[in-house]
Amino acid sequence: MAQTKGQTTMVQKSKVNFKQILDHSHIANPYPLYEQFRETPVAVQEDGSYIVSTYNEIVSLLHDPRVSADMRNSDAQKRAMEQMQQRRAQMIAQGQPVPEQEEVEPPFIFQDPPNHDRLRRIVMSQFTPARIEGMTSHIEQIVKEHLDRHTQGGQIDIVDDLAYPLPVTVICQLLGVPREDEARFHAWAELLATVLDPGQIQTEEQQKQIMGAGQQIREYMTQLLERLKTNPGDNMLSGMMRTDDIEGPMTPRELISTAVLLLIAGHETTVNLITNGTLAMVRSPELLKQLREDPDLVITYVEELLRYDPPVHFRTRTALTNIDIAGVTIPKGATIILVLASGSHDGERFKDPEEFIADRQGNEHLGFGSGIHYCVGAPLARIEAHIALRELSRRLIEPTLAVDPPPYRDNAALRGPRHLLVNFKGLV
Ligand code: HEM
Repeated sequence: MAQTKGQTTMVQKSKVNFKQILDHSHIANPYPLYEQFRETPVAVQEDGSYIVSTYNEIVSLLHDPRVSADMRNSDAQKRAMEQMQQRRAQMIAQGQPVPEQEEVEPPFIFQDPPNHDRLRRIVMSQFTPARIEGMTSHIEQIVKEHLDRHTQGGQIDIVDDLAYPLPVTVICQLLGVPREDEARFHAWAELLATVLDPGQIQTEEQQKQIMGAGQQIREYMTQLLERLKTNPGDNMLSGMMRTDDIEGPMTPRELISTAVLLLIAGHETTVNLITNGTLAMVRSPELLKQLREDPDLVITYVEELLRYDPPVHFRTRTALTNIDIAGVTIPKGATIILVLASGSHDGERFKDPEEFIADRQGNEHLGFGSGIHYCVGAPLARIEAHIALRELSRRLIEPTLAVDPPPYRDNAALRGPRHLLVNFKGLV
């Protein structure tokens, strides 16, 4: 039973359905839908999952130890696994060839304490401020190289020509992936990112493609880690292999799943932050003017972007026990969908939530999550976005959007434009 906000009426279901978020017709602007969601802060869906859309409730659940990030605890996942096992048993009984099942370690974003904390500590020991800040001049150089290819002006695709290649180059370099192998990660990363969006995996063929990409990236990582074992360098993977934690070092399987997570998490998100940031400034000549007059504004500008038009729209969790919240009992085993992007637009928490205020103060948005899974890559993502957006605002002469709204990718969880075509007269 859900209680309608501001009223005592008890309602069974939210007026809106989660499927609407996944429906591509809302992808260019899902925020009016979120406003309707927030009328019912915690709403049960037909499939037994719960959507949480208000700031306080999302934060409370993100900090609640009764809430698990491990999908293996969810009833829906258990049912899906049982069905898969039954299908395998049937195929074996019918004498059909059955692919071998690979034991895969879930990445630590999908684990709970204590193991989550151990793996996260080892990663954090390598993600040092000095290492991240040490990337600044390198990031500036990459941005310059990409932009300098367009001195004549004309048209630039912010996604393909800058926002997509930049994060993958940076994370590959930090991890210790050779530059010539970067291109292979684009295809793998986009496929694997669909795992975070339940609406996208609809056919067995898609499932196979994703599993194939997962296998290929793990094979690649296994070989790379072997090479780094004998020939280590000043990079995060070599450091993670060496680092011991009070609760033990990473196992080879944990190393692989962590390396894959860092590649994907840092890739499919930062691209959207830079693209959404460019979209906002090119749409609004006033914003562009403010950024040009005060380049330091880019710091609060990026925080406002993470609130107003964030790359990560929702994350899922599972209730480990019955949880009472906002007049609703979420039962043990239920899937909980936390709509972070809706929480960041909650008028109870943010003044004028639908306004983009470039110098907004006290901006505790949910763009990087909250609690024990708070984004480990936040400092890196911020540096990349600051540099890219500062340079774009400074250098593009008379930029205008060629297509508005731009075409969006299908992924509603990691949401962002597929292309962002900008016409401009040249570069400063
Ligand atoms: C976690 C957003 C960039 C690595 C998260 C979470 C969010 C997020 C919302 C919380 C997930 C949850 O609670 O389930 C973003 C955004 C980024 C970005 C918006 C860019 C604009 C990066 C980068 C890296 C990274 C550059 C690494 C290179 C991770 C990892 C986690 C995480 C490993 C899991 C942390 C844990 O479970 O303890 N990120 N991220 N992210 N992010 Fe990011």
